[in-house]
Amino acid sequence: MRLINCGKIMRLLSLPLLVGFLGLLFACKGGQSPAEKVYVPPGKLDSYYAFLSGGHSGQIGVFGLPSGRLIKMIPVFAPDVAIGWGIDEGSKEIMGGYIWGDAHHPALSETNGDYDGRWLFINDTANGRIARIDLKDFVTKEIITLPNVGGNHASPFVTPNTEYLVGATRFSIPVPNRDVPIETYKENFNGVIAFVSVDKDTGHMENAFQILMPPFDYDLADAGKRVSYGWAFFSCYNSEEAYKDLEVEASQKDRDFIAAVNWKAAEEAIKEGKYKEINGVKVIDPQEVKGIVYFLPTPKSPHGSDVTPDGKYIVGGGKLAAVVTVHGFEKMQEAIKKGDFDGEVMGIPILKYESVRVAEVPVGLGPLHTQFDDQGYAYTSLFVDSAIAKWKLGTWEVVDKIPVYYNIGHLAAIHGDTVKPRGKFVLAMNKIAKGRYLPVGPSHPESAQLIDISGKKMEMLLDFPTPVEPHYGQIIDATLIKPELVYPLDQNKDPYAIKSADQARVERNGNRVDVYMIAIRSHFTPNILKFEEGDNVYFHITNLEQDVDITHGFGINFSNVDMQIEPGETKTVKWVAEKPGIYPFYCTNFCSALHQEMQGYIEVASKNSK
Ligand code: CUA
Repeated sequence: MRLINCGKIMRLLSLPLLVGFLGLLFACKGGQSPAEKVYVPPGKLDSYYAFLSGGHSGQIGVFGLPSGRLIKMIPVFAPDVAIGWGIDEGSKEIMGGYIWGDAHHPALSETNGDYDGRWLFINDTANGRIARIDLKDFVTKEIITLPNVGGNHASPFVTPNTEYLVGATRFSIPVPNRDVPIETYKENFNGVIAFVSVDKDTGHMENAFQILMPPFDYDLADAGKRVSYGWAFFSCYNSEEAYKDLEVEASQKDRDFIAAVNWKAAEEAIKEGKYKEINGVKVIDPQEVKGIVYFLPTPKSPHGSDVTPDGKYIVGGGKLAAVVTVHGFEKMQEAIKKGDFDGEVMGIPILKYESVRVAEVPVGLGPLHTQFDDQGYAYTSLFVDSAIAKWKLGTWEVVDKIPVYYNIGHLAAIHGDTVKPRGKFVLAMNKIAKGRYLPVGPSHPESAQLIDISGKKMEMLLDFPTPVEPHYGQIIDATLIKPELVYPLDQNKDPYAIKSADQARVERNGNRVDVYMIAIRSHFTPNILKFEEGDNVYFHITNLEQDVDITHGFGINFSNVDMQIEPGETKTVKWVAEKPGIYPFYCTNFCSALHQEMQGYIEVASKNSK
């Protein structure tokens, strides 16, 4: 009886208690402090990966959000001595003889217009290249050179099914490159818009085709999506065609352009053989092939060229203007049909501004780049104002503005340039972040700032420093990336792999010596090695471990050899036995309690001692 009564009382009490508790919970969540919104407790994982370009460091920074924790630097165009990137034979070959690159725009592969978590691409503005990183292991697998492109800046923005990566000239050059007077810039120099195809199974990149363009400076790009699928849009400045003092001479005109490229039509032209081959690439000349490219006049030296998630609008961030210009894709199609042109450049029709423009949104000074959320809003970075403006698609009204510290370049929202933006946060990448961190000398770290965009008003949550120099970023839902944590040894197809200690050996062929070595806690086999002065030694080291995070290192004293070998992986590194003597080698990556004991000796005999 007593028990039943108790239960009854509990039931009577429980409903209001539950309501009260849920109410409290809701109030707490709604009223979360900025610290609570970014706090990821020990042992918990972040919800998003942010990939931020590392600029002239040639690397990519991988951050967890919302915490802002730096998880990894991926070496791409520059050596990384910890991993051995640029030291071992495989990565040296991928780097193609360069030791630097200017990594600007990370681009995640897409399926149906949304990130699919397979690959990450990034351009090299300096040496005209694009790299592919496999998100299965966060390692750079391939770097392709885009011939004819001088300074590949507007790159490598992907088309909605990763059919293509784009590229374009920032610094026009003669095509093909040759010695002509710089003063003949207008006659002899050209820009190029490039399309690089991506194999849908392997990710392998190939130069598909290019389009010869006037010698403007092509800046940024975005692929058309949904209704504008099949098109790509490239901003460009310096339609003045200046080649010196651009600071003054390239800012004369009120409007430059966004180049709209019908890549489906370009594919047809290529099929019909309407191209000439320059440096091994099929190049379409718009003076001979019509209907491939059109110019949309856009004020003023536009930077960002961003297509809305529905694909209906192209937003141009005129960096010397106080507005963003919104062009309508449908209006553009009508204007093309009607031949609503205002002259042409190099055979490329210029569409009438009034015929394509839908709105000029008064966002503020120095609009650079626009991203989108899931509620129909756009977010534009304002370099001069040091702020982000939030504005409504369709009504074109500016609804909020938040200052950032200081001088924002780009910004990234979660899936913010796809057909399915996720909202929640926008990340400001600030260029001149004076005084945000403990001073470390004359150069101040760049800064990223995480901003909550889930409410009516944007709310500043967090600062974190970023390695030089983020030009662009993309943020992906962490559940879409599932990296492998060891390389299965039985799937190791490296021609120099060995699978057990009894296969370890040294093979000599003239003065080439191949060492087949294994690394496993906590020793190398073989670990006593004898060479002759002048030998070219190739160490092929297989890490036999199959446990997570048991990475071994291999460093040789008095040399530039060091690399990291992951569980199940084989890597090859070359070392020249230049001088007689004794050379210790050791494991450079902490692997076990006996890590310190993981070592060996090389003896190099003098030629004369024989
Ligand atoms: Cu192996 Cu440290």
